[in-house]
Amino acid sequence: MERTFLMVKPDGVQRNLIGEIVSRFEKKGFKLVGAKLMTIPTELAEEHYGEHKERPFFGELVDFITSGPVFAMAWEGENVISTARTMMGATNPKDAAPGTIRGDFGVTVGKNIIHGSDAPESAVRELGLFFSEEFNSYDKQI
Ligand code: CMP
Repeated sequence: MERTFLMVKPDGVQRNLIGEIVSRFEKKGFKLVGAKLMTIPTELAEEHYGEHKERPFFGELVDFITSGPVFAMAWEGENVISTARTMMGATNPKDAAPGTIRGDFGVTVGKNIIHGSDAPESAVRELGLFFSEEFNSYDKQI
């Protein structure tokens, strides 16, 4: 069964959108198999967003994602990686369709509410960065 990493960003947490977002994925039929509220250390943020290191907004991106608590989640389900991306909407909320999370709640490209892995390889990488192996042994969870 496919798994993905999703994260409510500091703006989504501050705006009390955790419940709304979790609810959307639950109602879709996906299973929440791991979650934690945490403030991301700078080193982890730089590694997580490593592919954007050369972008002009990299510093801003790291500053924002470490600016307050995020809600990091592991979700499981058939085609969950691409379906979650569809449910999130376009990266820039101004282009995101109504009915998507960013289309309904986002305003700016930097503060776009939620992050989600974009491919199977990044899902494995990001789940590994945020959740320990023990925590990743979902079957053993009560
Ligand atoms: P995310 O899906 O978390 O992955 C990379 C993030 O970079 C993206 O969401 C945006 O929030 C952010 N981003 C993309 N373009 C810009 C930009 N021009 N200025 C600031 N942040 C950006």
